[in-house]
Amino acid sequence: MIEPAEAALGNHNSHRGSYDKPVISQKFINMDILTIASQKGGAGKTTLSAHLAVEAERTGAGPGAVVDIDPQGSLADWWNQRAAETPLFAAVDVARLAEHMTALQRQGVNLVVIDTPPALLDTIRAAIAVADLVFIPARPSPHDLRAVGVVVEMAEDLRKPFCFVVNGATPRTTIALEAVQALAQHGPVAPVIVHQRIDFAASMIDGRTAGEVNPRSRSAAEIGDLWQYVRTQLRQYK
Ligand SMILES: Nc1ncnc2c1ncn2[C@@H]1O[C@H](COP(=O)(O)OP(=O)(O)OP(=O)(O)O)[C@@H](O)[C@H]1O
Ligand SMILES: [Mg+2]
Repeated sequence: MIEPAEAALGNHNSHRGSYDKPVISQKFINMDILTIASQKGGAGKTTLSAHLAVEAERTGAGPGAVVDIDPQGSLADWWNQRAAETPLFAAVDVARLAEHMTALQRQGVNLVVIDTPPALLDTIRAAIAVADLVFIPARPSPHDLRAVGVVVEMAEDLRKPFCFVVNGATPRTTIALEAVQALAQHGPVAPVIVHQRIDFAASMIDGRTAGEVNPRSRSAAEIGDLWQYVRTQLRQYK
Protein backbone atom coordinates (compact mmCIF):
# COMPACT_ATOMS: atom_id res chain seq x y z
CA MET A 1 0.00 0.00 0.00
CA ILE A 2 1.19 3.49 -0.79
CA GLU A 3 0.71 5.84 2.15
CA PRO A 4 -0.74 9.30 1.58
CA ALA A 5 1.96 11.58 0.27
CA GLU A 6 3.06 14.45 2.45
CA ALA A 7 1.82 17.85 1.38
CA ALA A 8 4.21 19.09 -1.23
CA LEU A 9 2.46 22.40 -1.75
CA GLY A 10 1.28 25.19 0.57
CA ASN A 11 -2.13 25.39 2.14
CA HIS A 12 -4.73 22.75 1.72
CA ASN A 13 -8.13 22.05 3.06
CA SER A 14 -7.61 19.14 5.43
CA HIS A 15 -11.32 18.52 5.99
CA ARG A 16 -11.74 15.08 4.44
CA GLY A 17 -14.33 14.99 1.73
CA SER A 18 -15.02 18.71 1.61
CA TYR A 19 -14.26 20.47 -1.61
CA ASP A 20 -14.74 24.14 -2.25
CA LYS A 21 -12.81 24.95 -5.39
CA PRO A 22 -12.02 22.64 -8.28
CA VAL A 23 -8.38 21.76 -8.68
CA ILE A 24 -7.54 21.77 -12.35
CA SER A 25 -4.98 19.06 -12.69
CA GLN A 26 -1.88 19.15 -14.74
CA LYS A 27 -1.54 16.47 -17.36
CA PHE A 28 1.13 13.91 -16.59
CA ILE A 29 3.09 12.74 -19.58
CA ASN A 30 3.69 9.25 -18.25
CA MET A 31 0.60 8.68 -16.16
CA ASP A 32 -3.09 8.35 -17.01
CA ILE A 33 -5.82 9.04 -14.47
CA LEU A 34 -9.11 7.28 -15.05
CA THR A 35 -11.95 8.38 -12.80
CA ILE A 36 -14.93 6.06 -12.67
CA ALA A 37 -18.00 7.99 -11.68
CA SER A 38 -21.77 7.83 -11.59
CA GLN A 39 -24.05 9.65 -9.26
CA LYS A 40 -26.31 6.59 -9.15
CA GLY A 41 -25.49 3.86 -6.65
CA GLY A 42 -24.82 0.35 -7.86
CA ALA A 43 -24.03 1.24 -11.48
CA GLY A 44 -20.85 -0.83 -11.39
CA LYS A 45 -18.16 1.71 -10.51
CA THR A 46 -16.31 -0.50 -8.05
CA THR A 47 -16.67 -3.66 -10.13
CA LEU A 48 -15.31 -1.95 -13.22
CA SER A 49 -12.57 -0.09 -11.32
CA ALA A 50 -11.14 -3.38 -10.09
CA HIS A 51 -11.60 -5.21 -13.39
CA LEU A 52 -10.13 -2.46 -15.55
CA ALA A 53 -7.17 -1.89 -13.22
CA VAL A 54 -6.30 -5.59 -13.22
CA GLU A 55 -6.77 -5.89 -16.99
CA ALA A 56 -4.61 -2.82 -17.58
CA GLU A 57 -1.85 -4.31 -15.47
CA ARG A 58 -2.16 -7.67 -17.22
CA THR A 59 -1.78 -6.10 -20.64
CA GLY A 60 1.29 -4.09 -19.73
CA ALA A 61 -0.20 -0.67 -18.95
CA GLY A 62 1.07 -0.79 -15.36
CA PRO A 63 2.39 -0.14 -12.84
CA GLY A 64 -1.17 0.71 -11.90
CA ALA A 65 -2.70 2.00 -8.69
CA VAL A 66 -6.28 1.94 -7.51
CA VAL A 67 -7.68 4.73 -5.38
CA ASP A 68 -10.88 4.43 -3.35
CA ILE A 69 -12.46 7.71 -2.31
CA ASP A 70 -15.82 6.16 -1.44
CA PRO A 71 -16.42 6.13 2.33
CA GLN A 72 -18.07 2.72 1.82
CA GLY A 73 -14.56 1.43 1.05
CA SER A 74 -15.67 -1.43 -1.22
CA LEU A 75 -12.65 -1.24 -3.49
CA ALA A 76 -10.31 -1.06 -0.48
CA ASP A 77 -12.06 -4.16 0.95
CA TRP A 78 -11.52 -5.96 -2.35
CA TRP A 79 -7.87 -4.98 -2.45
CA ASN A 80 -7.35 -6.11 1.16
CA GLN A 81 -8.66 -9.56 0.22
CA ARG A 82 -6.35 -9.71 -2.75
CA ALA A 83 -3.29 -11.95 -2.77
CA ALA A 84 -1.63 -10.40 -5.82
CA GLU A 85 0.48 -7.33 -5.16
CA THR A 86 -0.63 -5.46 -8.25
CA PRO A 87 -2.30 -3.14 -8.89
CA LEU A 88 -1.06 -1.03 -5.99
CA PHE A 89 -3.49 0.56 -3.58
CA ALA A 90 -2.99 4.25 -2.85
CA ALA A 91 -4.58 5.68 0.28
CA VAL A 92 -5.48 9.31 -0.27
CA ASP A 93 -7.09 12.32 1.33
CA VAL A 94 -9.76 13.64 -1.01
CA ALA A 95 -8.87 17.23 -0.25
CA ARG A 96 -5.34 16.63 -1.56
CA LEU A 97 -5.99 14.46 -4.58
CA ALA A 98 -3.89 16.53 -6.96
CA GLU A 99 -0.87 16.26 -4.66
CA HIS A 100 -1.37 12.51 -4.35
CA MET A 101 -1.44 12.18 -8.13
CA THR A 102 1.87 14.00 -8.39
CA ALA A 103 3.33 11.69 -5.74
CA LEU A 104 2.11 8.59 -7.58
CA GLN A 105 3.61 9.82 -10.82
CA ARG A 106 6.94 10.34 -9.07
CA GLN A 107 6.74 6.81 -7.75
CA GLY A 108 6.54 5.48 -11.29
CA VAL A 109 2.83 4.69 -11.50
CA ASN A 110 1.56 4.73 -15.09
CA LEU A 111 -2.18 4.35 -14.55
CA VAL A 112 -4.41 5.46 -11.68
CA VAL A 113 -7.99 4.22 -11.44
CA ILE A 114 -10.13 6.25 -9.03
CA ASP A 115 -13.34 4.68 -7.72
CA THR A 116 -15.83 7.26 -6.50
CA PRO A 117 -18.89 7.23 -4.25
CA PRO A 118 -22.45 7.69 -5.45
CA ALA A 119 -24.25 10.91 -4.59
CA LEU A 120 -21.38 12.71 -2.78
CA LEU A 121 -21.13 15.39 -5.40
CA ASP A 122 -18.17 17.30 -3.98
CA THR A 123 -16.14 14.12 -3.77
CA ILE A 124 -17.09 13.07 -7.29
CA ARG A 125 -16.16 16.51 -8.55
CA ALA A 126 -12.75 16.35 -6.86
CA ALA A 127 -11.99 13.07 -8.65
CA ILE A 128 -13.17 14.45 -11.98
CA ALA A 129 -10.94 17.49 -11.53
CA VAL A 130 -7.79 15.33 -11.59
CA ALA A 131 -8.97 12.94 -14.33
CA ASP A 132 -7.66 12.50 -17.83
CA LEU A 133 -10.83 10.60 -18.66
CA VAL A 134 -14.12 10.18 -16.81
CA PHE A 135 -15.66 6.77 -17.29
CA ILE A 136 -19.37 6.59 -16.53
CA PRO A 137 -21.04 3.21 -16.08
CA ALA A 138 -24.81 3.04 -16.32
CA ARG A 139 -27.17 0.15 -15.94
CA PRO A 140 -29.74 -0.11 -18.70
CA SER A 141 -32.52 1.34 -16.57
CA PRO A 142 -34.35 4.64 -16.84
CA HIS A 143 -33.10 5.65 -13.37
CA ASP A 144 -29.45 5.14 -14.30
CA LEU A 145 -29.85 6.85 -17.65
CA ARG A 146 -31.50 9.87 -16.09
CA ALA A 147 -28.78 10.08 -13.45
CA VAL A 148 -25.83 10.35 -15.87
CA GLY A 149 -26.57 14.01 -16.50
CA VAL A 150 -25.08 15.13 -13.18
CA VAL A 151 -21.64 13.62 -13.88
CA VAL A 152 -21.73 14.69 -17.53
CA GLU A 153 -22.34 18.28 -16.45
CA MET A 154 -19.45 18.12 -13.99
CA ALA A 155 -17.11 16.71 -16.63
CA GLU A 156 -18.15 19.37 -19.14
CA ASP A 157 -17.79 22.08 -16.53
CA LEU A 158 -14.25 20.92 -15.74
CA ARG A 159 -13.51 20.31 -19.46
CA LYS A 160 -12.78 16.65 -18.97
CA PRO A 161 -13.44 14.05 -21.66
CA PHE A 162 -15.85 11.32 -20.68
CA CYS A 163 -17.36 8.15 -22.05
CA PHE A 164 -20.02 5.69 -21.03
CA VAL A 165 -20.43 1.97 -20.71
CA VAL A 166 -23.63 0.02 -20.25
CA ASN A 167 -23.10 -2.41 -17.38
CA GLY A 168 -25.25 -5.17 -15.98
CA ALA A 169 -27.25 -5.87 -19.10
CA THR A 170 -29.34 -9.01 -19.19
CA PRO A 171 -28.16 -11.16 -22.11
CA ARG A 172 -30.48 -11.34 -25.11
CA THR A 173 -32.51 -8.25 -24.27
CA THR A 174 -32.89 -5.14 -26.38
CA ILE A 175 -32.97 -2.64 -23.50
CA ALA A 176 -29.16 -2.50 -23.39
CA LEU A 177 -28.99 -1.42 -27.04
CA GLU A 178 -31.64 1.18 -26.35
CA ALA A 179 -29.51 2.40 -23.45
CA VAL A 180 -26.47 2.67 -25.75
CA GLN A 181 -28.52 4.79 -28.13
CA ALA A 182 -29.77 7.01 -25.32
CA LEU A 183 -26.27 7.54 -23.91
CA ALA A 184 -24.80 8.19 -27.36
CA GLN A 185 -26.79 11.39 -27.50
CA HIS A 186 -24.61 12.72 -24.68
CA GLY A 187 -21.18 11.38 -25.59
CA PRO A 188 -19.06 8.39 -26.68
CA VAL A 189 -20.28 4.96 -25.60
CA ALA A 190 -18.04 1.90 -25.30
CA PRO A 191 -18.76 -0.51 -28.16
CA VAL A 192 -18.85 -3.36 -25.65
CA ILE A 193 -21.75 -3.98 -23.28
CA VAL A 194 -20.86 -5.54 -19.93
CA HIS A 195 -23.47 -8.15 -19.10
CA GLN A 196 -24.90 -9.19 -15.77
CA ARG A 197 -22.95 -12.29 -14.73
CA ILE A 198 -22.40 -13.85 -11.38
CA ASP A 199 -18.63 -14.15 -11.87
CA PHE A 200 -18.23 -10.36 -11.83
CA ALA A 201 -19.46 -10.34 -8.24
CA ALA A 202 -18.25 -13.76 -7.07
CA SER A 203 -14.67 -13.27 -8.25
CA MET A 204 -14.29 -10.15 -6.15
CA ILE A 205 -15.09 -11.89 -2.86
CA ASP A 206 -11.51 -13.09 -2.49
CA GLY A 207 -9.94 -10.09 -4.15
CA ARG A 208 -9.79 -11.33 -7.71
CA THR A 209 -11.52 -10.50 -10.98
CA ALA A 210 -13.58 -12.62 -13.35
CA GLY A 211 -10.63 -12.82 -15.73
CA GLU A 212 -8.31 -14.01 -13.00
CA VAL A 213 -10.74 -16.76 -12.01
CA ASN A 214 -11.35 -17.83 -15.59
CA PRO A 215 -9.36 -16.09 -18.35
CA ARG A 216 -11.53 -17.77 -20.99
CA SER A 217 -14.84 -16.52 -19.59
CA ARG A 218 -17.16 -14.21 -21.48
CA SER A 219 -16.77 -11.71 -18.65
CA ALA A 220 -12.99 -11.71 -19.14
CA ALA A 221 -13.46 -11.09 -22.87
CA GLU A 222 -15.79 -8.16 -22.25
CA ILE A 223 -13.35 -6.55 -19.83
CA GLY A 224 -10.50 -7.13 -22.30
CA ASP A 225 -12.45 -5.33 -25.02
CA LEU A 226 -13.54 -2.62 -22.60
CA TRP A 227 -9.99 -1.88 -21.50
CA GLN A 228 -8.83 -1.63 -25.12
CA TYR A 229 -11.57 0.92 -25.73
CA VAL A 230 -10.70 2.91 -22.59
CA ARG A 231 -7.00 2.82 -23.50
CA THR A 232 -7.79 4.21 -26.95
CA GLN A 233 -9.89 6.96 -25.41
CA LEU A 234 -7.11 7.84 -22.96
CA ARG A 235 -4.57 8.07 -25.79
CA GLN A 236 -6.87 10.25 -27.79
CA TYR A 237 -6.92 12.91 -25.11
CA LYS A 238 -3.23 12.94 -24.20
N1 LIG B 1 -21.83 -6.84 -14.66
C1 LIG B 1 -22.19 -7.27 -13.46
N2 LIG B 1 -22.64 -8.55 -13.28
C2 LIG B 1 -23.00 -8.99 -12.07
N3 LIG B 1 -22.99 -8.27 -10.95
C3 LIG B 1 -22.57 -6.98 -11.07
C4 LIG B 1 -22.14 -6.43 -12.30
N4 LIG B 1 -21.78 -5.14 -12.08
C5 LIG B 1 -21.95 -4.92 -10.78
N5 LIG B 1 -22.45 -6.01 -10.16
C6 LIG B 1 -22.85 -6.14 -8.75
O1 LIG B 1 -23.77 -5.10 -8.49
C7 LIG B 1 -23.53 -4.52 -7.23
C8 LIG B 1 -23.17 -3.05 -7.45
O2 LIG B 1 -21.96 -3.00 -8.20
P1 LIG B 1 -20.78 -2.03 -7.75
O3 LIG B 1 -20.55 -2.14 -6.31
O4 LIG B 1 -19.66 -2.26 -8.68
O5 LIG B 1 -21.48 -0.66 -8.09
P2 LIG B 1 -21.07 0.78 -7.60
O6 LIG B 1 -21.46 1.72 -8.68
O7 LIG B 1 -19.65 0.78 -7.17
O8 LIG B 1 -22.00 0.95 -6.33
P3 LIG B 1 -21.92 2.15 -5.28
O9 LIG B 1 -22.55 3.31 -5.99
O10 LIG B 1 -22.73 1.66 -4.11
O11 LIG B 1 -20.48 2.37 -4.96
C9 LIG B 1 -22.40 -5.32 -6.59
O12 LIG B 1 -22.99 -6.30 -5.77
C10 LIG B 1 -21.69 -5.95 -7.79
O13 LIG B 1 -21.10 -7.18 -7.44
MG1 LIG C 1 -18.80 1.41 -5.39
